Amino acid sequence: MEYRRLGKSGLKVSALSYGSWVTFSNQLQTGSALECMNYAYDQGVNFFDNAEAYADGKSEIIMGEALKKAGWPRDSFIVSSKVFFGSNPDRKPNQTGLSRKHVVEACHQALKRLQVDYLDLYFCHRPDPDTPIEETVFTMDSLIRQGKVLYWGTSEWSAQEIMEAYSTARQYGLIPPTMEQPQYNMLERERFEKEYARLYEGIGLGTTIWSPLASGFLTGKYLDGVPEGSRLSLKGYEWLKERHLHEKNRANGERVRRLIPIAEESGLSMAQLAIAWTLKNPNVSTVILGASRLTQLKENMKALEVSAMLTAEVMEKIEGALANKPE
Ligand SMILES: NC(=O)c1ccc[n+]([C@@H]2O[C@H](COP(=O)([O-])OP(=O)(O)OC[C@H]3O[C@@H](n4cnc5c(N)ncnc54)[C@H](OP(=O)(O)O)[C@@H]3O)[C@@H](O)[C@H]2O)c1
Repeated sequence: MEYRRLGKSGLKVSALSYGSWVTFSNQLQTGSALECMNYAYDQGVNFFDNAEAYADGKSEIIMGEALKKAGWPRDSFIVSSKVFFGSNPDRKPNQTGLSRKHVVEACHQALKRLQVDYLDLYFCHRPDPDTPIEETVFTMDSLIRQGKVLYWGTSEWSAQEIMEAYSTARQYGLIPPTMEQPQYNMLERERFEKEYARLYEGIGLGTTIWSPLASGFLTGKYLDGVPEGSRLSLKGYEWLKERHLHEKNRANGERVRRLIPIAEESGLSMAQLAIAWTLKNPNVSTVILGASRLTQLKENMKALEVSAMLTAEVMEKIEGALANKPE
């Protein structure tokens, strides 16, 4: 395993990590989740990603049970939660958002579900236009000072919003955000490569990137329909199917078709090619893998050792096939 610094912080995060969105509770229960987490941990993965909203809190319950059964020393792994969307199925006012009330209560709930005393990483899952940035920054700072959270960050915030949080922290002598969790993959590049470009050096922003396979689309398995049991076939995820398989996403289907021979020439699976490509970007601190079964995790984790095969020449071929480099 390779370990990268989370931005300019002192925290070392494995270049590949494992997340639970969609999979935990829908496709994996405690036993199978533990099997995947154990495999990942044995391969050197030290970061497991979660959020209050995943399966309305059930994903954190499963991860908490798995962590307990695994019995790993607490100082050998990093676990996260995210606040914003809420976990209560009713979502009453104050059960969502980034107000002091919800951020604190969601933290306490996540600690309970995950059965840990502190969260290593705590993300604001989306920006909240209804809460002043000072309120959220002060709250994150105080959770860190209380020892309930070690590092805080954002997810899918604009560069401007991240800078606003950073400047607010600096203005009041508070702890600024350490990391952002954005989507980044071969088909979604603009924000990571262009909008955030000045933040990596400028404020030492770390990144924990999500959906390296665009929910599986980059494996090529959706080119001729939706396989039964796959993510885009799941009840409740019709919106995701619509997003990926809509006519206006046709150009992405063509990109995937053009990538297939490049993967074959390199002797890689499409999943490995796509994940290895994200690892080549030095601004990526960790790539959060998703896997609904152990075989996928085993295949995907090989991406790290084969990433050296993506030479400048192969990267150029990929760039040609993608034809979507941000200007
Ligand atoms: N902050 C945020 O807003 C946000 C948003 C999304 C995700 N995340 C985090 O990022 C993590 C990863 O995102 P993701 O799950 O969307 O990652 P992803 O790698 O884009 O998609 C993972 C899914 O693709 C399919 N897959 C994976 N490997 C495969 C393989 N080798 N062959 C065929 N199919 C394969 C599996 O779904 P099926 O087998 O079901 O088809 C798997 O669950 C999440 O778990 C979560 O922790 C964060």
